[in-house]
Amino acid sequence: MDSVTQQATISDAVSAEQRHSADGLAALAQQHKFETAGREAVFQLEDLDVAYGGLPAVGGVSMVVHEHLVTALIGPSGCGKTTILRCLNRMNDLVPSAKVGGSVLYHGEDLYGPGVDPVEVRRRIGMVFQKPNPFPKSIYDNIAFGLKVHGLTDDLDGRVENALKQAALWDEVKTRLKKSALGLSGGQQQRLCIARALAIEPDAMLMDEPASALDPISTSRIEELLHELKQSYTIVIVTHNMQQAARVADMTAFFSVEVAEDGDKRRGILVEYDRTATIFTRPSDKRTEDYVTGRFG
Ligand SMILES: Nc1ncnc2c1ncn2[C@@H]1O[C@H](COP(=O)(O)OP(=O)(O)OP(=O)(O)O)[C@@H](O)[C@H]1O
Ligand SMILES: [Mg+2]
Repeated sequence: MDSVTQQATISDAVSAEQRHSADGLAALAQQHKFETAGREAVFQLEDLDVAYGGLPAVGGVSMVVHEHLVTALIGPSGCGKTTILRCLNRMNDLVPSAKVGGSVLYHGEDLYGPGVDPVEVRRRIGMVFQKPNPFPKSIYDNIAFGLKVHGLTDDLDGRVENALKQAALWDEVKTRLKKSALGLSGGQQQRLCIARALAIEPDAMLMDEPASALDPISTSRIEELLHELKQSYTIVIVTHNMQQAARVADMTAFFSVEVAEDGDKRRGILVEYDRTATIFTRPSDKRTEDYVTGRFG
Protein backbone atom coordinates (compact mmCIF):
# COMPACT_ATOMS: atom_id res chain seq x y z
CA MET A 1 0.00 0.00 0.00
CA ASP A 2 1.48 3.38 -0.93
CA SER A 3 1.76 5.91 1.82
CA VAL A 4 -0.98 8.19 0.43
CA THR A 5 -3.49 5.30 0.33
CA GLN A 6 -2.39 4.19 3.76
CA GLN A 7 -2.87 7.72 5.08
CA ALA A 8 -6.35 7.86 3.58
CA THR A 9 -7.25 4.48 5.08
CA ILE A 10 -6.10 5.56 8.51
CA SER A 11 -7.98 8.82 8.37
CA ASP A 12 -11.12 7.02 7.10
CA ALA A 13 -10.86 4.63 10.01
CA VAL A 14 -10.39 7.50 12.46
CA SER A 15 -13.34 9.42 11.12
CA ALA A 16 -15.48 6.25 11.05
CA GLU A 17 -14.59 5.71 14.70
CA GLN A 18 -15.43 9.31 15.50
CA ARG A 19 -18.71 9.02 13.62
CA HIS A 20 -19.45 5.84 15.49
CA SER A 21 -18.70 7.39 18.85
CA ALA A 22 -20.63 10.54 17.91
CA ASP A 23 -23.61 8.35 16.93
CA GLY A 24 -23.32 6.51 20.24
CA LEU A 25 -23.29 9.75 22.21
CA ALA A 26 -26.22 11.06 20.19
CA ALA A 27 -28.24 7.92 20.94
CA LEU A 28 -27.49 8.25 24.66
CA ALA A 29 -28.28 11.95 24.65
CA GLN A 30 -31.61 11.41 22.86
CA GLN A 31 -32.93 9.48 25.84
CA HIS A 32 -33.52 12.63 27.86
CA LYS A 33 -37.11 13.68 27.40
CA PHE A 34 -38.04 16.90 29.13
CA GLU A 35 -39.19 20.48 28.60
CA THR A 36 -37.52 23.52 30.09
CA ALA A 37 -40.65 25.62 29.58
CA GLY A 38 -42.52 25.89 32.86
CA ARG A 39 -39.57 24.74 34.94
CA GLU A 40 -38.39 27.11 37.60
CA ALA A 41 -34.96 28.68 37.14
CA VAL A 42 -32.88 27.59 40.12
CA PHE A 43 -29.72 29.46 39.08
CA GLN A 44 -29.54 32.41 36.71
CA LEU A 45 -26.00 33.44 35.83
CA GLU A 46 -25.73 36.90 34.27
CA ASP A 47 -22.43 37.98 32.77
CA LEU A 48 -20.53 36.12 35.46
CA ASP A 49 -16.80 36.89 35.69
CA VAL A 50 -14.26 35.38 38.04
CA ALA A 51 -10.66 36.50 38.43
CA TYR A 52 -7.97 35.11 40.70
CA GLY A 53 -5.46 37.68 41.93
CA GLY A 54 -6.56 40.04 39.16
CA LEU A 55 -6.13 37.45 36.39
CA PRO A 56 -9.41 36.60 34.64
CA ALA A 57 -10.31 32.91 34.86
CA VAL A 58 -13.78 32.94 33.28
CA GLY A 59 -15.81 35.76 31.83
CA GLY A 60 -19.18 36.72 30.45
CA VAL A 61 -21.02 33.55 31.46
CA SER A 62 -24.82 33.75 31.23
CA MET A 63 -27.00 30.68 31.59
CA VAL A 64 -30.05 29.35 33.42
CA VAL A 65 -30.10 26.10 35.39
CA HIS A 66 -33.59 24.62 35.60
CA GLU A 67 -35.08 22.70 38.50
CA HIS A 68 -35.07 18.91 38.58
CA LEU A 69 -32.71 18.54 35.68
CA VAL A 70 -29.12 17.39 35.53
CA THR A 71 -26.98 20.11 33.95
CA ALA A 72 -23.45 19.17 32.88
CA LEU A 73 -20.50 21.55 32.54
CA ILE A 74 -17.96 20.22 30.05
CA GLY A 75 -14.83 21.58 28.40
CA PRO A 76 -11.05 21.28 28.40
CA SER A 77 -8.96 21.51 31.54
CA GLY A 78 -8.60 25.06 32.84
CA CYS A 79 -11.69 26.45 31.09
CA GLY A 80 -13.28 27.31 34.44
CA LYS A 81 -15.78 24.53 35.16
CA THR A 82 -14.81 24.20 38.83
CA THR A 83 -14.65 27.97 39.16
CA ILE A 84 -18.22 28.33 37.87
CA LEU A 85 -19.46 25.50 40.07
CA ARG A 86 -17.91 27.14 43.13
CA CYS A 87 -19.74 30.39 42.31
CA LEU A 88 -23.04 28.56 42.67
CA ASN A 89 -22.69 28.00 46.42
CA ARG A 90 -20.21 30.73 47.26
CA MET A 91 -17.33 28.36 47.75
CA ASN A 92 -15.17 30.95 45.98
CA ASP A 93 -15.59 33.09 49.12
CA LEU A 94 -13.09 30.70 50.67
CA VAL A 95 -10.45 31.49 48.02
CA PRO A 96 -9.00 34.84 49.15
CA SER A 97 -7.70 35.83 45.70
CA ALA A 98 -11.02 35.12 43.94
CA LYS A 99 -13.17 38.02 42.81
CA VAL A 100 -16.63 37.38 41.42
CA GLY A 101 -18.39 39.88 39.13
CA GLY A 102 -21.72 39.83 37.34
CA SER A 103 -24.57 38.13 39.11
CA VAL A 104 -25.87 34.76 40.23
CA LEU A 105 -29.53 34.58 41.12
CA TYR A 106 -30.75 31.62 43.12
CA HIS A 107 -34.52 31.19 42.90
CA GLY A 108 -34.59 34.80 41.73
CA GLU A 109 -32.53 36.20 44.61
CA ASP A 110 -29.02 37.57 44.41
CA LEU A 111 -26.78 34.88 45.91
CA TYR A 112 -24.14 37.55 46.61
CA GLY A 113 -26.57 40.14 47.96
CA PRO A 114 -26.17 41.83 51.35
CA GLY A 115 -27.61 39.79 54.16
CA VAL A 116 -27.13 36.46 52.41
CA ASP A 117 -25.46 34.01 54.78
CA PRO A 118 -22.88 31.89 52.90
CA VAL A 119 -23.20 29.09 55.47
CA GLU A 120 -26.94 28.84 54.84
CA VAL A 121 -26.26 29.00 51.09
CA ARG A 122 -23.94 26.00 51.37
CA ARG A 123 -26.54 24.09 53.37
CA ARG A 124 -29.12 24.56 50.66
CA ILE A 125 -26.68 23.99 47.83
CA GLY A 126 -24.57 20.93 48.59
CA MET A 127 -21.28 20.05 46.97
CA VAL A 128 -19.49 16.80 46.19
CA PHE A 129 -15.84 16.93 45.16
CA GLN A 130 -13.74 14.95 42.73
CA LYS A 131 -11.90 13.10 45.47
CA PRO A 132 -14.09 11.56 48.16
CA ASN A 133 -13.30 13.40 51.41
CA PRO A 134 -15.03 11.62 54.29
CA PHE A 135 -14.21 12.84 57.79
CA PRO A 136 -11.92 10.50 59.76
CA LYS A 137 -14.93 9.44 61.82
CA SER A 138 -17.41 6.59 61.76
CA ILE A 139 -19.79 6.15 58.84
CA TYR A 140 -22.64 7.19 61.14
CA ASP A 141 -20.85 10.28 62.43
CA ASN A 142 -19.97 11.42 58.92
CA ILE A 143 -23.68 11.95 58.35
CA ALA A 144 -24.66 12.91 61.91
CA PHE A 145 -22.02 15.66 62.12
CA GLY A 146 -23.67 17.97 59.57
CA LEU A 147 -27.10 17.20 60.97
CA LYS A 148 -25.96 18.34 64.42
CA VAL A 149 -24.26 21.47 63.05
CA HIS A 150 -27.52 22.44 61.37
CA GLY A 151 -29.72 21.48 64.31
CA LEU A 152 -31.48 18.67 62.44
CA THR A 153 -31.27 16.31 65.40
CA ASP A 154 -34.79 14.97 65.77
CA ASP A 155 -34.73 11.28 64.78
CA LEU A 156 -31.00 11.34 64.10
CA ASP A 157 -30.87 7.59 63.41
CA GLY A 158 -33.73 7.84 60.95
CA ARG A 159 -32.12 10.76 59.16
CA VAL A 160 -28.79 8.95 58.87
CA GLU A 161 -30.51 5.84 57.51
CA ASN A 162 -32.56 7.84 55.07
CA ALA A 163 -29.55 9.71 53.69
CA LEU A 164 -27.61 6.47 53.24
CA LYS A 165 -30.61 4.93 51.46
CA GLN A 166 -30.91 7.93 49.14
CA ALA A 167 -27.26 7.54 48.24
CA ALA A 168 -27.74 3.81 47.60
CA LEU A 169 -25.24 2.90 50.31
CA TRP A 170 -27.42 1.67 53.18
CA ASP A 171 -27.39 -2.03 52.36
CA GLU A 172 -23.61 -2.06 52.15
CA VAL A 173 -22.98 -0.28 55.45
CA LYS A 174 -25.96 -0.93 57.74
CA THR A 175 -24.06 -3.52 59.80
CA ARG A 176 -20.93 -1.37 60.19
CA LEU A 177 -22.23 2.12 60.89
CA LYS A 178 -19.86 2.64 63.81
CA LYS A 179 -16.80 1.61 61.80
CA SER A 180 -14.47 4.18 60.28
CA ALA A 181 -15.55 5.72 56.98
CA LEU A 182 -11.93 5.47 55.86
CA GLY A 183 -12.36 1.68 55.63
CA LEU A 184 -14.86 2.05 52.79
CA SER A 185 -13.90 1.64 49.14
CA GLY A 186 -13.46 4.76 47.03
CA GLY A 187 -16.87 4.34 45.40
CA GLN A 188 -18.51 3.79 48.78
CA GLN A 189 -16.71 6.82 50.22
CA GLN A 190 -18.03 8.94 47.37
CA ARG A 191 -21.58 7.73 47.97
CA LEU A 192 -21.05 8.51 51.68
CA CYS A 193 -20.09 12.06 50.71
CA ILE A 194 -23.23 12.27 48.60
CA ALA A 195 -25.26 10.95 51.57
CA ARG A 196 -23.60 13.52 53.83
CA ALA A 197 -24.58 16.29 51.44
CA LEU A 198 -28.15 14.98 51.05
CA ALA A 199 -28.70 14.55 54.80
CA ILE A 200 -28.89 18.28 55.44
CA GLU A 201 -31.79 18.55 52.99
CA PRO A 202 -30.31 20.66 50.23
CA ASP A 203 -32.24 21.94 47.28
CA ALA A 204 -29.45 21.65 44.75
CA MET A 205 -26.32 19.53 44.44
CA LEU A 206 -23.09 20.57 42.77
CA MET A 207 -20.80 17.72 41.76
CA ASP A 208 -17.27 18.26 40.51
CA GLU A 209 -16.22 15.15 38.55
CA PRO A 210 -17.76 12.93 41.23
CA ALA A 211 -16.91 9.69 39.44
CA SER A 212 -13.54 10.46 37.89
CA ALA A 213 -11.61 8.50 40.52
CA LEU A 214 -13.96 5.51 40.47
CA ASP A 215 -14.09 2.17 38.69
CA PRO A 216 -16.79 1.56 36.05
CA ILE A 217 -19.17 -0.21 38.45
CA SER A 218 -19.01 2.55 41.07
CA THR A 219 -19.34 5.09 38.27
CA SER A 220 -22.49 3.52 36.94
CA ARG A 221 -23.95 3.38 40.46
CA ILE A 222 -23.35 7.12 40.81
CA GLU A 223 -24.90 7.73 37.39
CA GLU A 224 -27.98 5.67 38.32
CA LEU A 225 -28.17 7.65 41.52
CA LEU A 226 -28.24 10.92 39.58
CA HIS A 227 -31.30 9.74 37.66
CA GLU A 228 -33.05 9.10 40.99
CA LEU A 229 -31.85 12.25 42.70
CA LYS A 230 -33.01 14.65 40.03
CA GLN A 231 -36.61 13.82 40.96
CA SER A 232 -35.97 15.67 44.22
CA TYR A 233 -32.95 17.88 43.55
CA THR A 234 -31.44 20.11 40.92
CA ILE A 235 -28.02 18.83 39.94
CA VAL A 236 -25.07 20.53 38.28
CA ILE A 237 -22.23 18.18 37.41
CA VAL A 238 -18.78 18.74 35.96
CA THR A 239 -17.48 15.86 33.88
CA HIS A 240 -14.65 15.15 31.48
CA ASN A 241 -16.38 12.02 30.30
CA MET A 242 -18.50 12.66 27.20
CA GLN A 243 -20.34 9.35 27.56
CA GLN A 244 -21.22 10.30 31.09
CA ALA A 245 -22.51 13.73 30.06
CA ALA A 246 -24.61 12.09 27.34
CA ARG A 247 -25.94 9.48 29.78
CA VAL A 248 -26.78 11.67 32.76
CA ALA A 249 -27.26 15.26 31.66
CA ASP A 250 -30.45 16.80 30.33
CA MET A 251 -28.70 20.08 29.56
CA THR A 252 -25.03 20.59 28.74
CA ALA A 253 -22.87 23.71 28.79
CA PHE A 254 -19.65 23.63 26.79
CA PHE A 255 -16.85 25.93 27.95
CA SER A 256 -13.64 26.70 26.14
CA VAL A 257 -10.54 28.79 26.67
CA GLU A 258 -10.26 32.03 24.75
CA VAL A 259 -6.69 33.18 24.18
CA ALA A 260 -6.01 36.88 23.55
CA GLU A 261 -4.10 37.76 20.38
CA ASP A 262 -0.87 38.42 22.25
CA GLY A 263 -1.24 34.91 23.64
CA ASP A 264 -0.82 36.16 27.20
CA LYS A 265 -4.36 36.35 28.44
CA ARG A 266 -6.48 33.23 28.67
CA ARG A 267 -9.96 33.04 30.05
CA GLY A 268 -12.75 30.53 30.03
CA ILE A 269 -15.91 31.34 28.12
CA LEU A 270 -19.24 29.61 27.68
CA VAL A 271 -19.37 28.60 24.02
CA GLU A 272 -22.71 26.87 23.86
CA TYR A 273 -25.46 25.78 26.22
CA ASP A 274 -28.33 23.64 25.10
CA ARG A 275 -30.13 20.34 25.48
CA THR A 276 -27.54 17.58 25.72
CA ALA A 277 -28.99 15.94 22.60
CA THR A 278 -28.42 19.15 20.65
CA ILE A 279 -24.88 19.57 21.96
CA PHE A 280 -24.03 16.03 20.84
CA THR A 281 -25.96 15.91 17.56
CA ARG A 282 -26.17 19.36 16.03
CA PRO A 283 -24.14 21.87 18.01
CA SER A 284 -24.28 25.33 16.54
CA ASP A 285 -20.62 26.12 17.16
CA LYS A 286 -17.72 24.40 15.43
CA ARG A 287 -15.69 24.45 18.67
CA THR A 288 -18.38 22.41 20.41
CA GLU A 289 -18.49 19.93 17.57
CA ASP A 290 -14.71 19.50 17.59
CA TYR A 291 -14.69 18.92 21.32
CA VAL A 292 -17.56 16.46 21.56
CA THR A 293 -16.29 14.43 18.63
CA GLY A 294 -12.86 14.22 20.24
CA ARG A 295 -10.99 16.32 17.70
CA PHE A 296 -9.90 18.74 20.37
CA GLY A 297 -9.30 18.78 24.08
N1 LIG B 1 -7.42 29.01 43.66
C1 LIG B 1 -6.97 29.47 42.50
N2 LIG B 1 -6.01 30.42 42.44
C2 LIG B 1 -5.54 30.90 41.26
N3 LIG B 1 -5.98 30.50 40.05
C3 LIG B 1 -6.94 29.56 40.04
C4 LIG B 1 -7.47 29.00 41.25
N4 LIG B 1 -8.41 28.07 40.90
C5 LIG B 1 -8.44 28.07 39.55
N5 LIG B 1 -7.57 28.95 39.03
C6 LIG B 1 -7.35 29.22 37.59
O1 LIG B 1 -8.59 29.49 36.99
C7 LIG B 1 -8.69 28.87 35.73
C8 LIG B 1 -9.89 27.92 35.70
O2 LIG B 1 -9.63 26.87 36.62
P1 LIG B 1 -10.70 25.76 36.99
O3 LIG B 1 -10.12 24.94 38.08
O4 LIG B 1 -12.00 26.40 37.23
O5 LIG B 1 -10.75 24.94 35.61
P2 LIG B 1 -11.47 23.55 35.28
O6 LIG B 1 -12.23 23.77 34.01
O7 LIG B 1 -12.23 23.07 36.46
O8 LIG B 1 -10.23 22.60 34.97
P3 LIG B 1 -10.06 21.01 35.20
O9 LIG B 1 -10.86 20.35 34.14
O10 LIG B 1 -8.59 20.80 35.05
O11 LIG B 1 -10.55 20.70 36.59
C9 LIG B 1 -7.36 28.16 35.49
O12 LIG B 1 -6.55 29.00 34.70
C10 LIG B 1 -6.81 28.01 36.89
O13 LIG B 1 -5.41 28.00 36.88
MG1 LIG C 1 -12.04 21.41 37.69
